Amino acid sequence: MAVCAADCEKRLEQQKEKDVLVLAVETSCDETAASVVKNGREVLSNVIFTQIALHTQYGGVVPEIASRKHIEKINQVIEEALVQAQATLKDIDAIAVTYGPGLVGALLVGVSEAKAISFAAGIPLVGVHHISGHISANYIEYKELEPPFICLVASGGHSHLVAVKDYGVYEIIGMTRDDAAGEAFDKVARAIGLGYPGGPKIDRLSREGNPDAIPFPRAKVGENEYDFSFSGLKSAVLNYLNACRMKGEAYSQADVAASFQKAVIDVLVEHSLHAVRAFGYDKFAIAGGVASNSSLRTAFEQECGKRGIRFYRPSPGLCTDNAAMIGAAGYYEFRKGVRSGYDLNAVPNLKL
Ligand code: KG4
Ligand code: ZN
Repeated sequence: MAVCAADCEKRLEQQKEKDVLVLAVETSCDETAASVVKNGREVLSNVIFTQIALHTQYGGVVPEIASRKHIEKINQVIEEALVQAQATLKDIDAIAVTYGPGLVGALLVGVSEAKAISFAAGIPLVGVHHISGHISANYIEYKELEPPFICLVASGGHSHLVAVKDYGVYEIIGMTRDDAAGEAFDKVARAIGLGYPGGPKIDRLSREGNPDAIPFPRAKVGENEYDFSFSGLKSAVLNYLNACRMKGEAYSQADVAASFQKAVIDVLVEHSLHAVRAFGYDKFAIAGGVASNSSLRTAFEQECGKRGIRFYRPSPGLCTDNAAMIGAAGYYEFRKGVRSGYDLNAVPNLKL
């Protein structure tokens, strides 16, 4: 009896210590991505087929084209992720897939693929929220990071201030009332003739401009001090450009880019650090495509430094859409016992 108990205990211990490999799939927008992640923190492979070049000629993502390209690429990307990780499906403990929010047709490709593999290979399926993935990119970059912390998620579709209370346990404390931060970057870039995708182009051009040249507004939103609004800023930029054109005056593209960017960053920094203080946390993280912005990273570095707040920022490649972040988030859901059924569906407006 004693031998058996010791034996069982040992087996349980071994099970606890066994590495958990998650195969993750992400197709919510215009990146077809797959990754193998070990124990939620170690990236064994991170394959991304980006469709940016395809959509550039249309000035933005064309949903139908995105879905078709995902179908064309998904098998190849998953195979590549397994090969690079030196793994086969036999080694995989769970399949994590983004099931929302995002473009419905694009999401469906990843969800259907993940369900098919799960069914065929008998591997548990875990549906993951895209924003939870963005936040979890921080766990990959910082092996020591643990909740609680405040995270600013700023991407093409979202601008959320989130209190991360535990793994996968979130409280949204602020969000945008209109445009997402990335959306504002993309729209302003188009207006000044930089094209798609606007964020990285404004980031680069801003280095040559004066951020204090044009006093664009910093929007305050009524009742919730943590909410954002970027549509007024976008309109102010468009009005400025129109006024210049009407007067026949040339404007500096770089000054407009730098002044707009500064206006966005000022608001993001102010609201975020206010939230960190109010919650009494000493850790702050950023996530999402806009988090790869170089001036935003510098601004947060400086401001967090002044206040003694530990600042976490995933490397730029983990800020924009990828599957490794979905693998990290999926791991913690899997550990909690979350399993999705074969009725898992794409939910384009999925709430966090
Ligand atoms: O997270 P992401 O890859 O996709 C979504 O989930 O939306 O974010 C894409 C957004 C785009 O709006 C893009 O213009 C913006 O992130 N972005 C940037 C930068 N790189 C990407 N915005 C500002 N500066 C950047 N360097
Ligand atoms: Zn995203």
